[in-house]
Amino acid sequence: MKTKITVINGPNLNLLGTRKPEIYGSVTLDEIISRLRQRASSTKFTIAAIQTNAEGAYINAVQQSAEDSAGLIVNAAAYSHTSIGIRDALEAAQIPVVEVHLSNIFAREEFRHHSHISGVVKGVISGFGAHGYILAFDALVQMLESGKA
Ligand code: DQA
Repeated sequence: MKTKITVINGPNLNLLGTRKPEIYGSVTLDEIISRLRQRASSTKFTIAAIQTNAEGAYINAVQQSAEDSAGLIVNAAAYSHTSIGIRDALEAAQIPVVEVHLSNIFAREEFRHHSHISGVVKGVISGFGAHGYILAFDALVQMLESGKA
């Protein structure tokens, strides 16, 4: 059984910590990944982390990690609202995917209310800040271990 969970973050999430902290919080992406690794250390799963600002690189990351991961945690950031290509890549992945948004996209501008990705993932976590990644990890582990993935 595969034990790697890959977290794929999209554009501008490398700026977490300083980018609009009133919306995204002040926790950096490095800190989020380190908290995930800490959480994973009491399980049989490990965390791999990818961040890219480019749509094609995001699609490549989904395709490659779909090969060797047990599941994916994805925050495609602005591409969630625009990218059919990322949606198609996620739909093609034969592993469970959880979509995360730090902010509550439904409580923000109208153009953020729709995510192209939500229809092809197991579930969506939106509005819980950095903790959303931990919630996504726990949900994935639960699905994988109960055979409901
Ligand atoms: C985001 C929400 C998106 O609308 C936005 O473009 C982001 C981050 C979030 O995590 O809340 O860059 O995905």
